[in-house]
Amino acid sequence: MYVCICHAITEKDIQKATDQGVVSLQELSQHTGVGTQCGACLSHSQEVMRRCRRRL
Ligand code: FES
Repeated sequence: MYVCICHAITEKDIQKATDQGVVSLQELSQHTGVGTQCGACLSHSQEVMRRCRRRL
């Protein structure tokens, strides 16, 4: 499922980023580009990231 439409970032992409050690929304933005265009995806991205980190 797409989280960031502007950059075509999916929940799986966010999972992959957290698996690779991304721990903050800022790092996720730098790593994937989420939130760097319209910003509409930021809160959902953070929620997905929290869920992914809980799985670790
Ligand atoms: Fe992610 Fe626009 S939907 S920056």
